[in-house]
Amino acid sequence: MKLVFATNNKHKIEEVQHMLPASIEIVSLESIGCFEDIPETADTIEGNAIMKANYVTQKYGYDCFADDTGLEVDALNGEPGVFSAHYAGEQRNSDDNMNKLLDALSAASDRNAQFKTVIALNLNGKQHLFTGIARGEITIEKTGNQGFGYDPIFKPQGFELTFAQLSLEEKGAISHRGKATEQLINFLKTK
Ligand code: IMP
Repeated sequence: MKLVFATNNKHKIEEVQHMLPASIEIVSLESIGCFEDIPETADTIEGNAIMKANYVTQKYGYDCFADDTGLEVDALNGEPGVFSAHYAGEQRNSDDNMNKLLDALSAASDRNAQFKTVIALNLNGKQHLFTGIARGEITIEKTGNQGFGYDPIFKPQGFELTFAQLSLEEKGAISHRGKATEQLINFLKTK
């Protein structure tokens, strides 16, 4: 089975391919000749995952999956959510995004939050969604230098460390993306 992963992140492709049985081959956007920016203008995380997967299936005719992730903060009614990448502006800078979020929560007593990843899979004419959630809280200051994005200010439930203080393996075992990917893989193994 050949399946396109609608991402330009080679690291994500390697990670998923590594977890799959050899009978399922992940194909990159590059190798199907898709070099344009795929639109992700929906107003929900689910909507963006679906938009990206549908773009590839409809325009190129391939079975495909795509992921989208956001950080949802309880005290901010789920913001930044679908706007996580450019919360502090189009420069898409992680430090700016984290500073804005820490400012927004400076007077908050509730610092609970969750990362949510949705994977949309188009397979044999049907669509399937897989959701992974990691609950935790937003710290008072940045700590750690692993990972990316909001990792230095997110402390997963049950841990005294931020995502940015965990190894890739430790984070992957409990993370939103790890959980959604595991569901996708378990589903694909039944195909
Ligand atoms: P994407 O949909 O995977 O591109 O994620 C959108 C944005 O959410 C990223 O630009 C990051 O700011 C944030 N984000 C996604 N996943 C993570 C994560 O695992 N840790 C921290 N921030 C993340």
